[in-house]
Amino acid sequence: MTILDGRKISSDIKEEITQAVNKMKDKGEKVPHLAAVLVGNDGASLTYVGSKVKACEQIGFESTLVQMPSTTSEIELLSKIKELNEDQDIDGFIVQLPLPPQIDTQKVLLAVDPDKDVDGFHPMNFGKMALDMSTFIPATPFGILELLERYQVETKGKHTVVIGRSHIVGRPMSILMGRKGWPGNSTVTLTHSHTKNITQIISQADIVISALGIPNFLKAEMVKDDAIVIDVGITRVADDTKKRGYKIVGDVDYDAVKKKASFITPVPGGVGPMTIAMLLKNTLLARERHRVNQAL
Ligand code: GUN
Repeated sequence: MTILDGRKISSDIKEEITQAVNKMKDKGEKVPHLAAVLVGNDGASLTYVGSKVKACEQIGFESTLVQMPSTTSEIELLSKIKELNEDQDIDGFIVQLPLPPQIDTQKVLLAVDPDKDVDGFHPMNFGKMALDMSTFIPATPFGILELLERYQVETKGKHTVVIGRSHIVGRPMSILMGRKGWPGNSTVTLTHSHTKNITQIISQADIVISALGIPNFLKAEMVKDDAIVIDVGITRVADDTKKRGYKIVGDVDYDAVKKKASFITPVPGGVGPMTIAMLLKNTLLARERHRVNQAL
């Protein structure tokens, strides 16, 4: 069994990006600038956005954190997005989800300039991804592909079962694992809350990608021998032994499942760190495209 070590791989990727940034600096070029918009004060979102901004600082990117109150109206947020779209210094930005209920998420995602949409959530970028065109791939699925690639995991002809159909993880993951190329070329089943016989389907999977958000959902007896198991779950569970009062728990009953799996991602330290690394990679790509467009 091999552990897919997201901490190590994300640190390798950050090192590679740092080198690219240092080259830009040496040439006197502008470095990538990522902005993150956070509406409200949801604890988990604050942590994630904080990690994204910190990672930018570590690797030499410029970063801007835009914090707006939970009472922000849709118009106010759309106006902030317009400002970020027009700001020539900003290469890419993200709007952290979920948004408060008074704001229509679809409207917000549509308002982001597709060339600055480093989350890859704009329908134009999502469509390009589905059509195998070059684009920004959403960071979590992109991170999973990168892990599979760097560990040389064969995916061709395998049966991939994706659990959960969210726009951020499950849906794009199902498209990417089925597309031509590597990682890809697998036969995909996308399962969700209305799937019948889900345990029977999972038991036939060569690759299981769980993005459900139910702690310890996936048990050893549900997966087949030598399965490749990717855990995207990051649920906060109360834990008095921790200073912060909670621990992060994945969808997979890790200690039991790892005995059966051929490859497995731990939680924490698997997919989570990869998400941030790939957001940085997308921002580097956005900077490169921005530079070329400005030169035209
Ligand atoms: N909320 C949970 N995951 C993500 C993500 O990858 N990007 C944004 N913007 N919000 C999220």
